[in-house]
Amino acid sequence: MAKIIVVTSGKGGVGKTTSSASFASGLAMRGHKTVVIDFDVGLRNLDLIMGCERRVVYDLINVVNQEATLNQALIKDKHCDNLFVLPASQTRDKDALTEEGVERVLNDLKAMDFEYIICDSPAGIEHGAVMALTFADEAVIVTNPEVSSVRDSDRILGIIQAKSRRALNGGEPVKEHLLITRYVPKRVDAGEMLSYTDVQEILRIPLVGIIPESESVLHASNAGNPAIHIEGSEVSEAYKDVVARFLGEERPLRYTSYEKPGLLQRLFGGK
Ligand SMILES: Nc1ncnc2c1ncn2[C@@H]1O[C@H](COP(=O)(O)OP(=O)(O)OP(=O)(O)O)[C@@H](O)[C@H]1O
Ligand SMILES: [Mg+2]
Repeated sequence: MAKIIVVTSGKGGVGKTTSSASFASGLAMRGHKTVVIDFDVGLRNLDLIMGCERRVVYDLINVVNQEATLNQALIKDKHCDNLFVLPASQTRDKDALTEEGVERVLNDLKAMDFEYIICDSPAGIEHGAVMALTFADEAVIVTNPEVSSVRDSDRILGIIQAKSRRALNGGEPVKEHLLITRYVPKRVDAGEMLSYTDVQEILRIPLVGIIPESESVLHASNAGNPAIHIEGSEVSEAYKDVVARFLGEERPLRYTSYEKPGLLQRLFGGK
C-alpha cells in the first residue's frame, strides 16, 4: 500500500525542496518505486533541482483539471529508474488545487503501484500547504536550528493535527519526523545556533536526521542534481542515513559535533 509523505515546514527557504528531492531519490535508490510531487504552484522549482525542467510539458494542475493524464505528466528521473517527478504549474494560482482533484490524483498514483508518494509543500500555512498535507500518512517537518523556524514548525504540527484527513477521521494520527537541515556544529558550539537537542525539546517529535550546512548543496541544485548524489559528501551521507532510518534501520547521528582545534592546529593552521 502506497504511503503519502508530506515534506513541510511553515517557514520558507529551510530546505523542503532540497530534502524532498534527496529523500525521494534515496528511496528510489533503495529500490522503492517513488514519485515526488511539487505542490508549490506558481513557484515551481522541484523540476530545476531534479534537473528535468526542460522536459516539463504538463503539470499537477493539468492532471487535477483532467487536461492531461498522469502518464503524460509524470517525468522519469534521469538518475533513478523507479523515480518519477510530477511538476507544479508556473502560471496557475494555488487555488486551482481542489481537495477532490488532489485526492483523485493521489488515488490514481496509488493504483500505479507507487510505494512512496512524496509531497513537496510550499511554505506557509495557506491553501497550497494545506493541500499538500491533507492526505498525508506521514510528515517530514524540515526545520533549521533557529527560533523562527522552530516556531513555524510548531504551527505546522498544529495544522497537521487539525486539518489532515487522518486527524479528521479520528484514526491513527499522521506520523511525524523531525528533519533538521543546515546544521553547523561550530556555530552550535559557539552558542550562535540552537543545538539539535534544543530543537527536539521544543518540538518533541522523533528525529529522522540532521543535514549539515554545505555550499555543495547550492552547486548541486543549480546543476539539477539532488544533493544525495554528491558522492562522498557529508550531505549525501546524511540524507542516506535519513532514508535508512525512515525505512526502520538504526543509524547513529553523524556530523553533529564540533572538535575544537588543538593548540598546535591553531598555531600551524588547519581548522
Ligand atoms: N544543507 C544545506 N546546506 C546549504 N544550503 C542549503 C542546504 N539545504 C538547502 N540549502 C539552500 O537553502 C535554500 C532553500 O532551499 P529549498 O529551496 O530546498 O528550501 P524550501 O524550504 O523548499 O524553500 P521554499 O519555502 O521557498 O519552498 C537553497 O538555496 C538551498 O540551496
Ligand atoms: Mg520549496
